[in-house]
Amino acid sequence: MNILIIGGGGREHAIAAALAKSPKVDKLYCAPGNGGISALAECFPEVKATDIEGAVELAKKLNPDYVFVAPDDPLVMGMVDKMEAEGFKTFGPRANAAILEGSKAFSKGLMKKYGIPTAAYETFTDEDKAVAYIKEQNSYPAVIKADGLALGKGVIIAKDFEEAKAAVHSMLVDGKFGKSGSEIVVEEFMDGTEVTVLAFTDGKSVKPMVSSMDHKRAYDNDEGLNTGGMGTIAPNPLYTPEIAAECMEKIFLPTIKAMSAEGRPFKGCLYFGLMLTKNGAKVVEYNCRFGDPETQVVLPLLETDLVDIMEAITEERLGDLDIKWSGKSCACVVMASGGYPEKYETGKPISGLDEKGQSPLAYVYHAGTKLEDGKYLTTGGRVLGVTATGDDLRSALDSAYKAVESISFEKAHYRHDIGKKAL
Ligand code: AMP
Ligand code: GLY
Repeated sequence: MNILIIGGGGREHAIAAALAKSPKVDKLYCAPGNGGISALAECFPEVKATDIEGAVELAKKLNPDYVFVAPDDPLVMGMVDKMEAEGFKTFGPRANAAILEGSKAFSKGLMKKYGIPTAAYETFTDEDKAVAYIKEQNSYPAVIKADGLALGKGVIIAKDFEEAKAAVHSMLVDGKFGKSGSEIVVEEFMDGTEVTVLAFTDGKSVKPMVSSMDHKRAYDNDEGLNTGGMGTIAPNPLYTPEIAAECMEKIFLPTIKAMSAEGRPFKGCLYFGLMLTKNGAKVVEYNCRFGDPETQVVLPLLETDLVDIMEAITEERLGDLDIKWSGKSCACVVMASGGYPEKYETGKPISGLDEKGQSPLAYVYHAGTKLEDGKYLTTGGRVLGVTATGDDLRSALDSAYKAVESISFEKAHYRHDIGKKAL
């Protein structure tokens, strides 16, 4: 089987590594891919993940047996629909289901209609009405979210009325997130611990993967700005079997059923961002895809062939498939460019990697690198996801951090406390 992966970050590197293990896979292609992915897949850096027409043209040229669309933007923009229309078997939700991530107003409305636990909220397009609602609620912190995709930056947790008012103004009047912020969601702040659960679903049944914990803030002790994710561990020990059973009954199955009832069957990987509150688990957000960097710690623990799972989803027989996990732990430490998530420099040579972009101490998923004249150079904010598995979390973390210390580039920064809360 030949498979074309769309995307070019650490998540796509982890997907490529999982697919490369399958005895069914002959050749992998990746568009755009990156320096590290090129050791596993033929990359097409000129085709960006958001270039729907370009990706379809590439698929027509390569004629893959499967297309795997990994990032949010092309999913929300309907790349799966376009690929399927050309006759390609494709992994990922169609646009009418990807809207679960593409519009927070949609996903909140769905949860309200079907009684799925989430923070209380209202949606607004008018500044005065939003500000009046915030004043009336008089509950801080207040959470203000842009409706659409905003690179994980469209959420403002305002500590008082002034901050909340400014957040509303920046989105609805100043257009800080463009069209994505022309409608906003104002919601109740939920106190608790966050857990990510990725789940395979064919629109009928849902099979949760091993749980994980992301670290969204840039610096140790959850200080600094929100990022795309600075590191992950799996499984998340705070997500107990009792909580898992509660989530299956109150959140996972109801969501899958609700989407099908709405005529929007969700097929692919559904990301549940959960808050474990004192009143039970609630949905913080849905994403219509694998998480990044959650995928980097979840897929290495998967023992079932990922291709078998993809085929079961396409053929809507996921319910019959037994998915096996290794029972080990996995940890990923992200090495980022100095300054990320704000301004940072690129083009820095990376030392400590072999010719395949790997380290003898851990698996190195490349997020933002390119290979030039045999040298790996930084190209993004998040550069590497240094990942190790172990019999327990402690040994996985030790291996990952040992590898991190052997890799360097100018102004590299990483968190020193990944997984600490879980030990
Ligand atoms: P989102 O893009 O919706 O995942 O939000 C980004 C981050 O903001 C989440 O991972 C949470 O840490 C935080 N967040 C979002 N909504 C809430 C909420 N209602 N209460 C508390 N924290 C939230
Ligand atoms: N790690 C968060 C996300 O993938 O959205």
